[in-house]
Amino acid sequence: MNLIARRDPGRQSLRTPLEVDAQLLELLNTKGADPDFWSSKERDRSDSVHCIFQYPAMMVPIVQRRLLGAVLEARPDIQSVYDPFLGSGTSLVSGMHFGLNTYGNDINPLAVLISRVRTARSVEFTIGAIGDVVAKKAEADRRETIETSMPNREKWFQADVSIDLSRLRRAIRKCESLWVRRFLWVTLAETIRLTSNDRTSTYKLHARPAAETAKRKLSPITVFRDLARENAASFSTFRRRLTEAKQIKSSKYVAETDVRIGDTRKALDYWGDAAPFDLLMTSPPYGDNLTTVTYGQHSYLPLHWIDFKDIDPAADSAALRTTQEIDRRSLGGVSSDSVWTEDALLEASPRLKRFADGLPAKPEDGRSRLLRFYRDFGASLDSITGVMKSNSYMIWTVGNRNIAGQQVPTDLVLSDLVEGLNCKVVTTLTRRIHHKRMPDRNASSATMREEKILLVRKCEA
Ligand SMILES: C[S@@+](CC[C@H](N)C(=O)[O-])C[C@H]1O[C@@H](n2cnc3c(N)ncnc32)[C@H](O)[C@@H]1O
Repeated sequence: MNLIARRDPGRQSLRTPLEVDAQLLELLNTKGADPDFWSSKERDRSDSVHCIFQYPAMMVPIVQRRLLGAVLEARPDIQSVYDPFLGSGTSLVSGMHFGLNTYGNDINPLAVLISRVRTARSVEFTIGAIGDVVAKKAEADRRETIETSMPNREKWFQADVSIDLSRLRRAIRKCESLWVRRFLWVTLAETIRLTSNDRTSTYKLHARPAAETAKRKLSPITVFRDLARENAASFSTFRRRLTEAKQIKSSKYVAETDVRIGDTRKALDYWGDAAPFDLLMTSPPYGDNLTTVTYGQHSYLPLHWIDFKDIDPAADSAALRTTQEIDRRSLGGVSSDSVWTEDALLEASPRLKRFADGLPAKPEDGRSRLLRFYRDFGASLDSITGVMKSNSYMIWTVGNRNIAGQQVPTDLVLSDLVEGLNCKVVTTLTRRIHHKRMPDRNASSATMREEKILLVRKCEA
């Protein structure tokens, strides 16, 4: 039987995985006795300002840190955390508070850019002043050349806004440090979100009515300068907290951070050198992007103004071929060539089968969308379980979405699927959502007011 060595300065105790499960259950249940403990009514301000771009469906950092704290208490030997659906990198940032090696990937280049900025080992402390200088350079630039060749630009940007964004883009390109440019690209992305003609109330691209657009008085350079100052201030708070937690030495984060662009279904192909990982912490998409959260559409306009080579040499600009391309490439997006056939999937999850069988005939594509998503999700689980160590824990935060007015039991389907892959669900916690930004009120996803947190252990082969 595998025994887990516990780093204990006083005495070395060796415990079985079942004993560790029991300790974790006790820790989580004691803490969870307060119904709002996992719900985090109070927001941690220094973390929330640190979000730098309004990426959809961000996890709540204080909850992630509480979960990590509990798992690390039971397993102090854990040294790395992995997030296969990284989004804006919240789980890795939480891992940095504990000095963990942090690894993550996402299929969306904007998510990778934001996460690389947030998790950098070294940062430039004068970034606020640099933001001011870049804004000044943009103001002094009198050229009117437009620095993007995106289709339908006039639909999405007023003429003056395009000129200002082009001036900012030219000024950012002149900065020497890659991290500085990345920070400023993220700031530009948020500037674009606020100054384009796209409505900010939904994640789907949806232009404001022309009459409304004509009335808006916008100054992207001013917006950019203010955001750069805010982002710089929140960054210095974050780095100060890491320093207080003794996770910064000689101005550098003490452990490794590695963010890659990539499809989780192929994670085994590109994490071979860094895996296996000790702990997983993630919140996966709840369904196909198009009918849940359109991460790709939300990123489409900003990405057209950012130098892809600064995100990653492997970032593929064909991801901007259409407004829907990133969403199509994401889980459940296009006809799946997943190794998981429909039959294998429904056999692996009786609860998914029951749900799918009970779906009404309309909308006609409800069932096929659902199963396409889960076939892709199954392929991701194959890869994920392949890059995790034996007896590693996985913390999955999942929301339940609606299809045809019926709530998909996402947590139960995940339980079925991981149990079929030699994993054990140790416990499931419920958290009420107080703060999370929701997708469109009218989308078929409806709103998600509750999330489940599954603690899973990968068993020995
Ligand atoms: C719920 S979000 C993650 C939110 C993140 N935990 C946070 O706190 O910001 C899900 C992420 O999964 C990504 N995604 C979807 N399909 C993917 C795939 N096949 N491979 C990797 N990432 C994928 C989306 O781009 C999105 O960023």
